[in-house]
Amino acid sequence: MMLAQSEPAPASIKLLEPFTLRGVELPNRIVMSPMAMYAADEGEVNQFHLTHYHKVAMGGVGMVVVEQTAVSRRGRITNGCLGLWHDGQIEGMRRLVAGIHSFGAKAAIQINHGGRKGSAQRAWQGNGALTADDIARGEELWVPEGPSAIAFAEGWPIPDAMSLDDIARLRADFVATAQRALQAGFDVIEIHLAHGYLLQSFLTPLANKREDIYGGSLEKRMRLPLEIAEDLRSALPESVPIIARISATDWVEGGWTLDDSVVLAAELKSRGIDLIDCSSGGNLLRGATNASLARGPGYQVPFADRIRNEVGVPTMAVGMIHSGAQAEQILQEGKADLIAIGRRMLFDPFWALHAVHEMGLDDDFVRWPKPYGWWLEKWARSVMTTPQTPE
Ligand SMILES: Cc1cc2nc3c(=O)[nH]c(=O)nc-3n(C[C@H](O)[C@H](O)[C@H](O)COP(=O)(O)O)c2cc1C
Repeated sequence: MMLAQSEPAPASIKLLEPFTLRGVELPNRIVMSPMAMYAADEGEVNQFHLTHYHKVAMGGVGMVVVEQTAVSRRGRITNGCLGLWHDGQIEGMRRLVAGIHSFGAKAAIQINHGGRKGSAQRAWQGNGALTADDIARGEELWVPEGPSAIAFAEGWPIPDAMSLDDIARLRADFVATAQRALQAGFDVIEIHLAHGYLLQSFLTPLANKREDIYGGSLEKRMRLPLEIAEDLRSALPESVPIIARISATDWVEGGWTLDDSVVLAAELKSRGIDLIDCSSGGNLLRGATNASLARGPGYQVPFADRIRNEVGVPTMAVGMIHSGAQAEQILQEGKADLIAIGRRMLFDPFWALHAVHEMGLDDDFVRWPKPYGWWLEKWARSVMTTPQTPE
């Protein structure tokens, strides 16, 4: 018996319209943005991950994007990253996906190599380079790898500059990881091309100082990410959507720009990438907040808008999108196709159901899991009709 998402009324807003990516139909346009929890041990899914993702799926999203997941052990950002670098990690992911599907949501996974930002503290233990105290607590330190032997910031490890053999191995790791993800039942693969991790560090001139075929001009800096897009497209079935999260800009003079992103998005599209997920930043020590950047509601939406409408590729908007009304307006104005929500879903795992309810579209709670909705509908009516206690 399907307990979740009982026969919702026909969608009257775009946010609730289904969206098709190749052979996959998302039941609505609300997506949980990938958010690394750094709560794993040796890359394995545990009870925390199951509860964390399943409660959001129960909360009515159309798709969950599981956090950045390492394609190799050395490609972890921290000791707590999820991984799919060996077959033994598939079973935990299978349980994760099965639970997401049980609530009617689709499951995507963001596959990643941490690059020169690897060998770091778990965010909630400092979010910096590992310290002697961390190592004394049992955290493992390793030498990360990157396009060039340039540390992410002062005090961070100097990465090994990747050889051509390393790059060939990396390409195989991305393909093998995506194939494991499909074995686990994931519907959609997201390539992490953002936030200063390995693939974005090849794109940006801030990190990539190579003088071979993978560095220099924009074309050469795009080469590795595009090769990986091609590898994945040819290795995965036609029906499987592949999407890419990009940093639309580094927010730094001399860094990666929105114009570069427009070029990249067109190249990705021509290689069969189905949607561009438009984030930004990640090459500054404190993320984008260090730059002279006005952050406000929907501050990254213009990136999704320009790429969608100039390149003609579907986009996902993300970043400080707070309400259902704000999300709906972005879709209505044709600025994006999907809306990703991050921190609001940590604050409120039922954000999707609440957003729709607050828009007055689900007063009878039919979108809620039946065992909740049956009671909530009566409760709401009784709250409305119960005489208030006189003051
Ligand atoms: C705890 C946390 C972990 C994150 N981890 C990832 C990640 O794994 N991959 C990624 O692309 N972005 C990651 N992000 C960025 C979010 O996906 C999102 O783009 C960002 O939080 C802005 O959206 P928001 O304002 O709705 O939170 C993370 C953000 C947070 C708060």
